[in-house]
Amino acid sequence: MKDFLSILDKRTGKSYDVPISDGTIRAMDLRQIKTDPEDFGLMTYDPAFTNTASCRSAITFIDGDRGILRYRGYPIEELAEKCDFLQVAYLLLFGELPAEDQYKEWKDKITLHTMIHENLKKFMEGFRHDAHPMGMFVSTVAALSTFYPEAREVKNRQSRKLQIMRLIGKVPTIAAYAYRHSLGLPYVYPDNSLGYAENFLNMLWKMTEPKYTPNPVLARALDILFILHADHEQNCSTNAMRSVGSSQADPYLSLSAAASALAGPLHGGANEEVLRMLDEIGSVNSIPAFIEKVKSGECKLMGFGHRVYKNYDPRARIIKKAAEDVFEVTGVNPKLEIAKELERIALNDEYFIKRKLYPNVDFYSGIIYQAMGFHPEMFTVLFAIPRTVGWLAQWQELIEDPEQKIARPRQIFTGHEIRHVEREQEASNVVVAAR
Ligand code: CMC
Repeated sequence: MKDFLSILDKRTGKSYDVPISDGTIRAMDLRQIKTDPEDFGLMTYDPAFTNTASCRSAITFIDGDRGILRYRGYPIEELAEKCDFLQVAYLLLFGELPAEDQYKEWKDKITLHTMIHENLKKFMEGFRHDAHPMGMFVSTVAALSTFYPEAREVKNRQSRKLQIMRLIGKVPTIAAYAYRHSLGLPYVYPDNSLGYAENFLNMLWKMTEPKYTPNPVLARALDILFILHADHEQNCSTNAMRSVGSSQADPYLSLSAAASALAGPLHGGANEEVLRMLDEIGSVNSIPAFIEKVKSGECKLMGFGHRVYKNYDPRARIIKKAAEDVFEVTGVNPKLEIAKELERIALNDEYFIKRKLYPNVDFYSGIIYQAMGFHPEMFTVLFAIPRTVGWLAQWQELIEDPEQKIARPRQIFTGHEIRHVEREQEASNVVVAAR
């Protein structure tokens, strides 16, 4: 029999044929494997989902061994070279690159949603001057939920589309406001005559000039970075988006949960940590000593390694190239020399070769962001803006998937069987009726 997995349960001597489809068996097919009728049935144990597919998805394809990343079938290299971020956003969300008229309509609609309610601006003013911009981003996105109660209608396709456009339009505004707040600068309103990345630069850096003119090289570099960060299949934050979204929470709340997951140093927060690490290393001469610290397990080489890529992250290659364009405008970030040498040494060291540890997207992105003028606390927010599109595309796919239900993993219970509260453990202020 083809395309079946034969399982012999040596506990009972019974054998089972479990269908294989798409290189996968269904975990629920294992539940028929029991020792007796009372037995719950076999489960799989997979902490951190290292070998579990949680959904069927047609959005992003990664081949980690060959270093391949494609959105809806298009290689990331082609999209980064030939498209702009809003085209790629449309592709991720609707499956095809937009025709000219579709693109114009899409761009107009996103632009229409760049403003945020004045009360939301006041809400952001309430943060301390030194609040981390990622904390501000997460909280403000969650607060959007209170402004759009109809977003709760997650099964309503029209409402979903409206919330998606609102979120894509508003996240750069929220991110820019968080940045200006950290510097004590007044907020800058969106300029809808500018492109998506251009307007973001305007909201970040406009000072007293009547109209801000963004540097086209920097705007294009940022647009490319946005394309590279737009989606990455079932990573930690996307899993959070899908998990929270599966309870039918509205997209603002789900996205705020996803952004919270992104903030961690093992995920999107790594770009901030890379800069701290390069600061700590300080000079090329100190690299060998630092590598020894990594190998002895004292710390990690941040910006290296990936759960899926066991080859060079294709995004890191494109970023390295984009960095050259940015540095022509901004001057070279002196940390680049340290990063390149760090990469060279690591890629020739047995520790990293054996574990297939290569630079990931976060290794070089922070160096570009810093050269552009961002402080490290902003780096993860710069990741969250484009990833908003990926989260929403994955959320939409989840909601439309008839096979999906509320996410609810099982556990292997390792606690006490049953025990009872002893008399001396009873709280003295509980009035026991019988007394
Ligand atoms: N530096 C040193 N050793 C490492 C690193 C690293 N950056 N990453 C993994 N290893 C070692 C790890 O100690 C383990 O060694 P051993 O087999 O001796 O125990 C081995 O490599 C396998 O690592 P793992 O922790 O089992 O791998 P994982 O798939 O659970 O973790 C990761 C993936 C990305 C969390 C991890 O590589 C890491 O912590 N990297 C640094 C943080 C980072 O750059 N994160 C950004 C990821 S890319 C962007 C994104 O998706 O957010």
